[in-house]
Amino acid sequence: MAIEALLRIDAGGYANLVVPALLDRCRLADADRRFVTELVYGVTRLRRALDASIDPFLVRDVDARTRAGLRLGTYQLVVLATPPHAAVSSTVEAVGGRSKGLVNAVLRRIATSPPVPTDDASRLSYPDWIVDRLVADLGRDRATAALEAMNGRAVTHMRDDGYVQDPASLAVVAQVGATAGEVVVDVCAAPGGKATALAGSGCSVVAVELHPGRARLLERNRRATGAQRLAVVRADGRSLPLAAGSVDRVLVDAPCSGLGSLRRRPDARWRVDDAAPERLATLQRDLLAQARRILRPGGTLVYSVCTLTATETLGIDRWLSDTMPDLEAQPTMRRLDGSAVVWEPWGRGALVLPTVEGSDGMFVLVLRDVGHRAT
Ligand SMILES: C[S@@+](CC[C@H](N)C(=O)[O-])C[C@H]1O[C@@H](n2cnc3c(N)ncnc32)[C@H](O)[C@@H]1O
Repeated sequence: MAIEALLRIDAGGYANLVVPALLDRCRLADADRRFVTELVYGVTRLRRALDASIDPFLVRDVDARTRAGLRLGTYQLVVLATPPHAAVSSTVEAVGGRSKGLVNAVLRRIATSPPVPTDDASRLSYPDWIVDRLVADLGRDRATAALEAMNGRAVTHMRDDGYVQDPASLAVVAQVGATAGEVVVDVCAAPGGKATALAGSGCSVVAVELHPGRARLLERNRRATGAQRLAVVRADGRSLPLAAGSVDRVLVDAPCSGLGSLRRRPDARWRVDDAAPERLATLQRDLLAQARRILRPGGTLVYSVCTLTATETLGIDRWLSDTMPDLEAQPTMRRLDGSAVVWEPWGRGALVLPTVEGSDGMFVLVLRDVGHRAT
């Protein structure tokens, strides 16, 4: 099943859709379901590092199924430290066909002397551009620690209402500071983690989402969590059907390159392209301009993204301070009660790296309208 899943992901399938779909087709014990998921997600994340161990033993490229088998076997040998006799024979059997001999020979050599990749991008298993960019934006130590952390398994936090959410996302909700009776607009709301949590604080939430399928998912999550005073609106956040100056708080949890949540989406690092940060920054600015329009005098605007690029964090911060000088940065909390997530100052906002156990990497900036200064 793991080989089948890897082949589908290689062919363009999304890991978080492919794996559950395959698991649903057969009856495996829970432990086996977890094992398949761990194998497929792990191999998908570490694809490049595994290939760096495999390729020195190949004289020519191999077909997709053989490649998937070799990665799977190498992952078990090198990462899971599965005893070689078990890892090798089970993988050889699973691959089957004419490649059995080759898979057996290569895995045996890797079991005795696994080649160790020397450059960071191969060792950490990311495209060159992600490593280069984060090293430039965060410094080598921070970047390497973040990239290393995102190769681990994602840890989730279950809320009282049953919604599973990342700890850093919950911290962003706290930074919004919504109180009972206020009107809060979440401009990019699906799947609704933050919108449903916000509604829990007694304010009225308008949860906007552009994509119809995702708006339906948001509506399902609204019902599942029993969130009161939460209205789902399908609309483009760049042209909101809301009056100017009408809203107490606006959250722009913007679409972003997602380089802080790669642990959660094992195949995302291979999908996102190097032009994504600039392209998304344009959308982020458009969404913020619209959010600014609907904000009432004295209202609060919160910008957050689950990425770590300077373009989408410090760059947006600078643009906001240049174009909206009447929005004043508010102090962000360093740490929430009971949370392991510690934020560090980043521009006028705050950043958390995905190095804290289980947390995504995120940036948040809280701004308050202090009125148009007389000129
Ligand atoms: C980072 S996700 C939001 C996550 C959500 N706030 C949560 O906590 O569950 C960004 C969302 O914005 C949506 N989106 C993209 N472009 C948009 C637009 N122009 N207007 C509104 N939503 C948009 C995406 O479909 C995606 O669901």
